[in-house]
Amino acid sequence: MMQSTVDRRDGTPQVGLKQEDLTQEGLHVAIIMDGNGRWATRRGLPRSAGHRAGVEAAQRVVEAAPDLGVATLTLFAFSSDNWRRPRAEVRALMSLLRQYLKSELHRLVENGARLAVIGRRDRLPAGLSEEIAEAERASASGERLNLRIALDYSSRDAIAHAATRWRAEHPPSREAFGQLLAPEDCRADVDLLIRSGGEKRLSDFLLWESAYAELCFVDILWPDFGADDLAAAIADFRGRERRFGGLGAIAPLVAAE
Ligand code: FPP
Repeated sequence: MMQSTVDRRDGTPQVGLKQEDLTQEGLHVAIIMDGNGRWATRRGLPRSAGHRAGVEAAQRVVEAAPDLGVATLTLFAFSSDNWRRPRAEVRALMSLLRQYLKSELHRLVENGARLAVIGRRDRLPAGLSEEIAEAERASASGERLNLRIALDYSSRDAIAHAATRWRAEHPPSREAFGQLLAPEDCRADVDLLIRSGGEKRLSDFLLWESAYAELCFVDILWPDFGADDLAAAIADFRGRERRFGGLGAIAPLVAAE
């Protein structure tokens, strides 16, 4: 294996670094779970039924992730722009998230998952923020998987918020700034970003953290996404060469010119 990992002072990887060196702590996989509404509409069901099926897909992925080498899994459950959706849909989503916390917490704890919710908490329905804090406390000792759920989350807002704190508290480095964006004590940088549902955009999700993420866009609607699809995305990721702006494996060819 190539020696050395990242220059941790400024977060800049060394030229020619292999992907395994960077990801020996386990992968950070981030998922935009898109397609719930279309899945439901195609079946003549209300959109909320698609979100319910989407929760089941999330459960499958959370269970499969640690055995596939994932150390951190960030799921985009509700964006700050999703408040623009009809009130009934927003209510259904919030209620599903609440049920998820209630019904899944014991399984998360049993499976060694440490839950952290990222995003704003001050606009959530009454009581939800306390339930989140309780679930985070109860799962704090989990060591198999950092499960991060992005809720009322906007990457631009997160960056703007971190910038106000950065100037006051930290020397100007990529690493220090990145840590402000991932206060849960896990690696902020995304290795692999998956979006289901066929669209090819980032939708204000982990913009800073995905600077060198490998992107995987799949047509599968989120409720149909399963452990096999996650495994396939990770297998494809493992076949890619990550050069981080350097030359990687083509460096010897260039040197020989
Ligand atoms: C996008 O599909 C999906 C959402 C806005 C919600 C995602 C939420 C879940 C899957 C459930 C909660 C998850 C956890 C972790 C408990 P869309 O509704 O925009 O689909 P469409 O593009 O087909 O309309």
